[in-house]
Amino acid sequence: MNVPQTMGQQFGRRSWAEPWKIKMVEPIKMIDRPARQVALDEAGYNTFLLRSEDVYIDLLTDSGTNAMSDRQWAGMMLGDEAYAGSRNFYHLEDAVRTYYGYKHLVPTHQGRGAEHLISQALIEPGDYVPGNMYFTTTRQHQELAGATFVDVIIDEAHDSQNPHPFKGNIDLAKLEALIARVGAEKIPYISLAGTVNMAGGQPVSMANVRDLRALCDRHGIRLYLDATRMAENCFFIQEREEGYQDKPIAAILKEFCSYTDGAWMSSKKDHLVNIGGWLAMNHEDLFEKASNLVVVFEGLHTYGGMAGRDMEAVAIGIEEALQDDYMRSRIGQVRYLGELLSDWNIPIVQPVGGHAIFLDAKRIYAHMPQSAFPAQTLAAELYLDSGIRSMERGVVSAGRDPQTGDHRYPKLELVRLTIPRRVYTQAHMDVVAESVKAVYDARHAVKGLEMVYEPAYLRFFQARFAPIR
Ligand SMILES: Cc1ncc(COP(=O)(O)O)c(C=O)c1O
Repeated sequence: MNVPQTMGQQFGRRSWAEPWKIKMVEPIKMIDRPARQVALDEAGYNTFLLRSEDVYIDLLTDSGTNAMSDRQWAGMMLGDEAYAGSRNFYHLEDAVRTYYGYKHLVPTHQGRGAEHLISQALIEPGDYVPGNMYFTTTRQHQELAGATFVDVIIDEAHDSQNPHPFKGNIDLAKLEALIARVGAEKIPYISLAGTVNMAGGQPVSMANVRDLRALCDRHGIRLYLDATRMAENCFFIQEREEGYQDKPIAAILKEFCSYTDGAWMSSKKDHLVNIGGWLAMNHEDLFEKASNLVVVFEGLHTYGGMAGRDMEAVAIGIEEALQDDYMRSRIGQVRYLGELLSDWNIPIVQPVGGHAIFLDAKRIYAHMPQSAFPAQTLAAELYLDSGIRSMERGVVSAGRDPQTGDHRYPKLELVRLTIPRRVYTQAHMDVVAESVKAVYDARHAVKGLEMVYEPAYLRFFQARFAPIR
């Protein structure tokens, strides 16, 4: 007779548990398969267009889906909703200075607000912005400001099975080649993201950012950081990089940021809130331009589109996100789901990254051409199987080349199972794993989708599809 084992025992280790307990719950329910088919038809086979009430376990995104702590909720009651000079703004400014180390802060309603400001402030038409793989909204703002984005991430990042520990690193030789080709004066800044969402939540090493700083200093180029999931990035540095094992995540973050000139932030991720963001910098000229632009596009420079209470929740969330035991359980939960799927030989991006499991749709639907949108199809099949909502990160997200108008066919064709922070339990992860397995086992019968409606910008949000019969 098999003796039941705890999860930890099954993996030959001691079990871990979250460093919090649940104080409030939100009921969820699953609708049956015929109702899910109706919902999927109505949503044009795009999981972004489903109603959340029709979703059972929502792994669409880790953005703004966090559960706040009792301290954050208490902070919401201390919101100073003055139009100008709210005390919560000064608390937030202080938290960013303390933990990220930047001199100036410009608050925004969320990450893309900050991306808009930095792109408009620094980019001239005809410029080039190199970065470690693109992110959808980041690149869109850079292109709208007139720049060409150039991917200079290491080649390993484009291979879903490569075990490189820091697949988010920039390839300095690729960057030097770009500088030699276009000239440093055509590069307003380098756009460095940690972790790299589109590569599977892969981290950047401290050695890489240090080398990058030296390269930037040699050429007189600025280095700005997409710090959206930088706290999670620092966990991987602590775990994998020589000399950082005994350093707290907070100290690692401060050192990493010290090599950069500033950062933009979607607080909806690392900061454990539902809305918010900011742009922070050391250079006075960018501070002046961004402070001026923010009043046109976001709100006054001491709230930038956030309510006072939201700024308070972000300020408290920054501190909570940098607790080592919190981060161990956060990444541990993602890893748990990844270990289950890997052990069942389901192709996922390796190594498992910080915020999500990325299913390799190209390998799962090896019989399907990329033009039939394998990842979009897989996300739809998962929803049909169990009401789990995931997100396409492949040819639909990559959009069209602005020069040729053709689809961009990225090497990675992925479905993202994004784990919200402090929201779901291990039992939810088990349900998800079993549904992925059921869809994987039924993979040969699936033909793919055709796109029947395509919006001009960021098409993955609103495009509509129909099954190929
Ligand atoms: C890496 C990265 N940068 C920027 C953003 C944009 O942030 P927001 O959604 O808050 O506008 C996101 C959000 O998905 C992201 O993942």
